[in-house]
Amino acid sequence: MDLELKDKVAVVGGASKGLGRACAEVLAEEGARVVVCSRTQADLDRTAKEIREATGTDVLALAGDLDNHQTIRDLIAAATSRFGRLDILVNNSGGPPLARALSATEEQWATALQRSLLFFARMSREAIPHMKRQGGGRIINILAATVYQPIPNLALSGVTRLGVVAFAKSLADEVGRDGILVNNVCPGSILTDRMRSNVAARAKELGVSLEQGLADRAAETAVGRIGEPRELAHLVAFLASGKSSYITGTTMLRASAWRSPGARPGSEPPEPAANRPRAGQRGRSRGGDETPRPARW
Ligand SMILES: NC(=O)c1ccc[n+]([C@@H]2O[C@H](COP(=O)([O-])OP(=O)(O)OC[C@H]3O[C@@H](n4cnc5c(N)ncnc54)[C@H](OP(=O)(O)O)[C@@H]3O)[C@@H](O)[C@H]2O)c1
Repeated sequence: MDLELKDKVAVVGGASKGLGRACAEVLAEEGARVVVCSRTQADLDRTAKEIREATGTDVLALAGDLDNHQTIRDLIAAATSRFGRLDILVNNSGGPPLARALSATEEQWATALQRSLLFFARMSREAIPHMKRQGGGRIINILAATVYQPIPNLALSGVTRLGVVAFAKSLADEVGRDGILVNNVCPGSILTDRMRSNVAARAKELGVSLEQGLADRAAETAVGRIGEPRELAHLVAFLASGKSSYITGTTMLRASAWRSPGARPGSEPPEPAANRPRAGQRGRSRGGDETPRPARW
C-alpha cells in the first residue's frame, strides 16, 4: 500500500530516541522529509545523520526544550521556512514526572501541565495555520495507556493525557472541514529508555529485579510481550498517511496495553511473581509454551 507520504513534511518531537525516533525513521523510510527536535544536541544530530544516511531523505534537526513555548514557535518556523510546507505533526515529548496523585509536588504538576497538556495545544496552534493554507494535514498525539487505566507513580500522566483526549476531540471537530485530521495513540509497554527507567523505579518499590519488572509488564499485555518502538511508529505512519482520510478524533490503544483481568485463561487468579514468565518467555498463565511473537499474516 502506498501511504502517499513521499515529499510530505513531518515535524516529530522528542525524536532523538525511543518512540519519536522510530516515528521519524518510519516516516522518512516512506519518503517524507522530517524535522526532528529534542533537547540534547549531540543525540539529536546523531539521530538526524543516521536517518539521513539510512533513507536518503532530508532531515532538519532543531535542538530545544519543548516545555518552552518559544522552542515550539522556532520549530514550526524552521520547518516551514526550510521546506515551505507542513503536512504532519507528531506531537511527542518526554513524559511527565513520576509522581503519585496525593504526593505530587507543585513543581511536578507545573512540569506535567507544560509537557503533557499545553505542549499539545501549542504545537497544534502553531502548525494549523500552515496546514489550513495547504488544505489539509495530520496531527498525531502520542499519549499513554494511562488514559484507560491508572499506573502507580504515573498519576500525572493520566490526568494530563485525558485532557489531551478531550482537546483532540474538540480540535478534530474544529478543523475537520479544513482537511486536518487529529488522532491520539496510546502506547502501553514499548521498550524505550523511558519505559525501562519507569519499570526500574516501580521494581525498586516492589523489591523485585528490573528483569522481573519487565517480565511482569509483558505478562500483563494482551499479546504477552513488550513492544518495539517501530510497532507504534507503523500506526503513526498510517495515521499520517493519505490512507487514513476518514479517521479523526479517535484514541487508539496499542495491543501492548493491558488485557482485562477477566481475559486470563479460565479466569484463574494471577500467579505469584516467582512463577510468572520472564521477559520474552511465554508463561504457564497464558496457556502455552511458545515464545510470544508478532502475529503473522
Ligand atoms: N515507551 C512506552 O511504552 C510509553 C508508554 C506510555 C507513554 N509513553 C510516552 O511516550 C513519550 C515518548 O516516550 P519514550 O518511551 O520514547 O521516551 P524516551 O525513550 O525517554 O525518549 C524521549 C525523547 O524525548 C526527548 N525529550 C524528553 N523531554 C523533552 C523535552 N522537554 N523537550 C524536547 N524533547 C524532549 C528525549 O531527548 P532529550 O532528553 O535529549 O530531550 C528523547 O529523544 C513520552 O511522553 C512517554 O511518557 C511511552
